[in-house]
Amino acid sequence: MVLPRAEVQEILTGYPRQPIIGAIGSHSALDIADGAVEEGFHTLVLAQKGRDQTYRRYYRAHRDAEGRVTRGAVDEVWTFPKFADAAAPEAQARLREHGVLIVPNRALSSYVSLDLLENSFRVPMVGSRNLLRIEERTERENYYALLAQAGIPAPTRIPTPQEIEGLVMVKLPHATRRLERGFFTAASFEEFQRKSETLITAGTITPDDLSGARIEQYVLGPVFNFNFFFSPLVPREDGLELLGVDERRESSLDGLVRLPAAQQLEIRGSHAIPRYTVVGHGALTVRESLLEEVFDFGERFVEVTRSRAAPGILGPFTLQTCIDHDGKAWVFDVAARIGGGTNIHLALGHPYGNALWRTPMSSGRRIAIEVRRALAENRLREIIT
Ligand SMILES: Nc1ncnc2c1ncn2[C@@H]1O[C@H](COP(=O)(O)OP(=O)(O)O)[C@@H](O)[C@H]1O
Ligand SMILES: [Mg+2]
Repeated sequence: MVLPRAEVQEILTGYPRQPIIGAIGSHSALDIADGAVEEGFHTLVLAQKGRDQTYRRYYRAHRDAEGRVTRGAVDEVWTFPKFADAAAPEAQARLREHGVLIVPNRALSSYVSLDLLENSFRVPMVGSRNLLRIEERTERENYYALLAQAGIPAPTRIPTPQEIEGLVMVKLPHATRRLERGFFTAASFEEFQRKSETLITAGTITPDDLSGARIEQYVLGPVFNFNFFFSPLVPREDGLELLGVDERRESSLDGLVRLPAAQQLEIRGSHAIPRYTVVGHGALTVRESLLEEVFDFGERFVEVTRSRAAPGILGPFTLQTCIDHDGKAWVFDVAARIGGGTNIHLALGHPYGNALWRTPMSSGRRIAIEVRRALAENRLREIIT
């Protein structure tokens, strides 16, 4: 059971007039903090020991006598032995005392259990608490179910490895680093067997995960991650915004494609099978003729979440797509929270967001504007869960 929204809204009544914007210190925390200070908020990063210097030292906010930020973006850092400790009852109480609004990022939903976030994390989240779980491929009501209900094209699922015909992507977690991927491609059952054996022997994947793996059609084409924002504070027709588009750099995939063919062919064993560990992002734009379709996907996603998982998507979300040779976009993954690649428009803003807002508009800044607007209109309850 997800915490009743009314219970979380009730917490807001004890909050100060100017809440603090907080996030787990990883993923897109810099974008969140940068946008928040830009809009006049104080910021908090919940860091893990050994991963705190980025925020505590290198991006610490310096403020002048009037409180204006002159350098950096992070006012306060609370360091915990483990990220998960940031959600312990004592930490929750401290977050409430300080009037912190948490912006959920992937680090939050990866390092803190979803059960805890849904059922007992009594701190207001700017975003959709009940949608964090849809990213889990093993869940029944996952994003594939929502995409199907919304009529948004997703790569076709291949029910069993025996039915593989043509290139497929096999999606399963890494054997030991559970937050990383043990993905591989195959074009036949024989290749599936051969590669999976290599990866099992190398300790990259386990037979157990393999039996539950998602096998789907491989979409041959570039990846575009569309970073959207949905606001419930404005008339519905103005609610959906496209802020930016990013792509990922993945290791070892990007390393392999930078090698000449002759060298690629020299690589043997599991190293020849690309890994899809995200290590960075780049900014993109898309052909303008694609925008219409992509906005339609965004609208459909907003609607399906509003009807199937009230209150639906609030704030940022990302549709991760591959564009095929017919120029058709396929959504292979969804993030119902701030995306992992939004640091590309940190401070600078992004072409699409800037064009809409007539000022540099990053995802982080857009979130902070939403909070500022909600505060001004006394509607904070409407953007939190
Ligand atoms: N159906 C697909 N066709 C082609 N490439 C894909 C497909 N699904 C995923 N990928 C590639 O794998 C990467 C990770 O996939 P994704 O589904 O986003 O995994 P995760 O949920 O771990 O982020 C993508 O960035 C993309 O490069
Ligand atoms: Mg993804």
